Amino acid sequence: MIILFSNNSLANFRQTIAEPLAFVPTMGALHDGHLSLVRAAKQEHFKVIVSIFVNPLQFNNPEDLLKYPRTIQNDLNLLEETGVDAVFLPSNNDVYPIDYQPNIKLKNNQIETVFEGYFRPGHFDGVIQVLHRFFSQIQPDSVFFGQKDLQQCMVVKLIIDEYFPKIKFNIVETSREKSGLAMSSRNLRLSAKELELAKEIYTTLMNLKRFNKNGINHEIERLNNLNITTEYLSYVNLPHFDVPEHPASNQAIVYAGYLGQIRLIDNLLL
Ligand code: PAF
Repeated sequence: MIILFSNNSLANFRQTIAEPLAFVPTMGALHDGHLSLVRAAKQEHFKVIVSIFVNPLQFNNPEDLLKYPRTIQNDLNLLEETGVDAVFLPSNNDVYPIDYQPNIKLKNNQIETVFEGYFRPGHFDGVIQVLHRFFSQIQPDSVFFGQKDLQQCMVVKLIIDEYFPKIKFNIVETSREKSGLAMSSRNLRLSAKELELAKEIYTTLMNLKRFNKNGINHEIERLNNLNITTEYLSYVNLPHFDVPEHPASNQAIVYAGYLGQIRLIDNLLL
């Protein structure tokens, strides 16, 4: 596995690759969810490149950026074991050089201001800047994203439709713990007791998916009684994350809330 520490080494690597190239962007603190993206990419492609970069532009809360887990040696070991060909580990300066203005915009940007976008203002704008930069530099044939960040997946779809129509976009199903809890780097920050409780978010989504049992308000109250504070729990239409007035075919249930200090998100496709 080659480790690329700079834009120059990335450009040299890119020139040597004649086979189709798959790209999996990450912010590190890797878990099986990320590795499932790599495995999906390996199934379809000869070469896989993974980036590890904690993108400051997508954190609306500076404390969150500071506390974001950094486990680089473990990440590299996992990627090597999974058979990745190259890892891009750029510095802030590589991604955002002084003479580079990150101001890429989507034509239809309504999705950036609802749900995740509402509670994390500017978050998707930061995601758009970093992905546009990486897609331009790496020129992948295919990219792989996890369904757990469903709204991000829809934003990526819009970036690709608008700017990189040749890139094939793949969404990989959410990896879950045995309890049903969606795997997330943030789970590392949950206490043992909180980890046990966190599975109730999945139970809520399943209750709504299977039976529409007792409805959304009842589920919010049930979680509240377990000290899980909901930010949003809603049915949405895909891809624009507008709220459906009537049942439609392409829908999901999306969730965000807090368990103690930790913000968790999850979703199910319907
Ligand atoms: O999902 C993530 O980890 C990040 O948002 C991404 C896609 C790597 C962009 O920084």
